[in-house]
Amino acid sequence: MRPSNASIKTFKINGRDLSGRSNETILQVARDNGIEIPTLCYLEGLTPVGACRMCMVEIEGSSKLHAACVTQVREGMVVRTDSERLRKYRRMVVELMFSEREHICAVCVSNGHCELQMLAEQLGITHIRYPRLEQKLSVDASHDRFIQDDNRCVLCGRCVRVCGEIESAHTWDIMGRGVSSRVITDLDQPWGDSETCTRCGKCVHVCPTGALIERGMSVAEMLKRRQFLPYLTIMREEDR
Ligand code: FES
Repeated sequence: MRPSNASIKTFKINGRDLSGRSNETILQVARDNGIEIPTLCYLEGLTPVGACRMCMVEIEGSSKLHAACVTQVREGMVVRTDSERLRKYRRMVVELMFSEREHICAVCVSNGHCELQMLAEQLGITHIRYPRLEQKLSVDASHDRFIQDDNRCVLCGRCVRVCGEIESAHTWDIMGRGVSSRVITDLDQPWGDSETCTRCGKCVHVCPTGALIERGMSVAEMLKRRQFLPYLTIMREEDR
């Protein structure tokens, strides 16, 4: 383990006096102290990127919202993780994800195990207020072990990060901008033709939805196993 130059900071989260190291994020300190903040793109063991905006929190003195997964704690900061404004934003973020692609839970292999679906339930979302984009995106079944369904992707980038940071294969990337963004393998070639894919399946198991799945799964059968991530991360840190 490398020595850390971090100093100790004291601050408040939801009225509680807490302390943490200066290199820790609001999310890390909150979770260490039993304060839950909803997340989607964040996954312990991978570099946080602040992509999904589910973990927005309020910081006193700042009019904008801040992503807790990428905001480090500061001395004297006063943070609120739950308010009507935050719940409104989180509902909006989830509804926009549902409206952007075809998240039809009833016919999804990840039904009942999907993080997007769980967030919608937690936030009490029963319908979508925004018009659907009705995009018809591709399903790549060229790989002999896995399937990629773009229609169920939330662009969290977990697959990209686990493949680069943990497996060091760098097979995945994100192509395009805005609603045209897509997760691709190598230079946008079929997954089954990828020369860099090691067939490890880590991308499949960190995917929060049914966008990356194992072949042969039926509705609600796809369970994701992520226990490998904290162990691999610790081993990687110790090797440095
Ligand atoms: Fe923080 Fe996605 S979990 S932005």
